Amino acid sequence: MVSPLISPKSLKLPGAHVVVTGGSSGIGKCIAIECYKQGAFITLIARDENKLLQTKKEIEKYSVNDKQVVLCISVDVSKDYEQVENVLKQAQEKLGPVDMLVNCAGTSVTGKFEDIEVNSFERLMAVNYLGSVYPSRAVIATMKERRMGRIVFVSSQAGQLGLFGYTAYSPTKFALRGLAEALQMEVKPYNVYVTVAYPPDTDTPGFAEESKTKVNCPSIFEISVFKS
Ligand SMILES: NC(=O)c1ccc[n+]([C@@H]2O[C@H](COP(=O)([O-])OP(=O)(O)OC[C@H]3O[C@@H](n4cnc5c(N)ncnc54)[C@H](OP(=O)(O)O)[C@@H]3O)[C@@H](O)[C@H]2O)c1
Repeated sequence: MVSPLISPKSLKLPGAHVVVTGGSSGIGKCIAIECYKQGAFITLIARDENKLLQTKKEIEKYSVNDKQVVLCISVDVSKDYEQVENVLKQAQEKLGPVDMLVNCAGTSVTGKFEDIEVNSFERLMAVNYLGSVYPSRAVIATMKERRMGRIVFVSSQAGQLGLFGYTAYSPTKFALRGLAEALQMEVKPYNVYVTVAYPPDTDTPGFAEESKTKVNCPSIFEISVFKS
């Protein structure tokens, strides 16, 4: 699932500050739990405050010491760069500089190219691509100064090859790969490492939501059946 662009140095998670965008659900929530279990301090970023607080409670059950903190930030990662920069500044004032940023916030719509609303193409590019650019841009200078840090982009198998019905989604996930490869070249001399994850279909609330749009595109079902 994970494709490191250049052999990464291992990051010590006990006491590290890990920020997970999209950390209130699905894959992001699982990543946050795994990091917390290994002693990390966690900042969860998503929009829905109730979901964030519910997830915080869930994660806190796995505490390994009484100093660990789970911080929740409600913000849309795709709308306003300055807002994203501000909230990440606040998170760093509370929990220290970000050691690892996991860009997991994302969404999907399926359908035939001509049937997908134009604003869906715009929304997916904003959330899946710019929603990873903004948090990364907000933490990269400090990572370079400290000469340490990890940035993870959660792409998709649909970011490795185009799939029937994914004309709005696949390009946003291909874009993350281009971003990651170019960024890695810039930050490697500063001991900052970039990783791209390419998950396959994963049973999450987001996947359930995406599957509802597949009824308009039966060929995707046929391909899914073929795959499983
Ligand atoms: N599940 C799969 O099969 C699969 C496969 C390959 C790749 N992926 C990728 O993995 C990532 C996570 O997917 P998932 O299935 O775990 O999704 P999910 O269960 O829907 O979780 C998505 C998370 O992102 C947050 N989010 C969405 N839009 C946001 C925005 N504009 N600003 C801030 N937070 C936002 C959501 O919270 P709020 O709605 O409260 O903001 C939620 O915490 C996505 O990037 C997805 O493309 C998933």
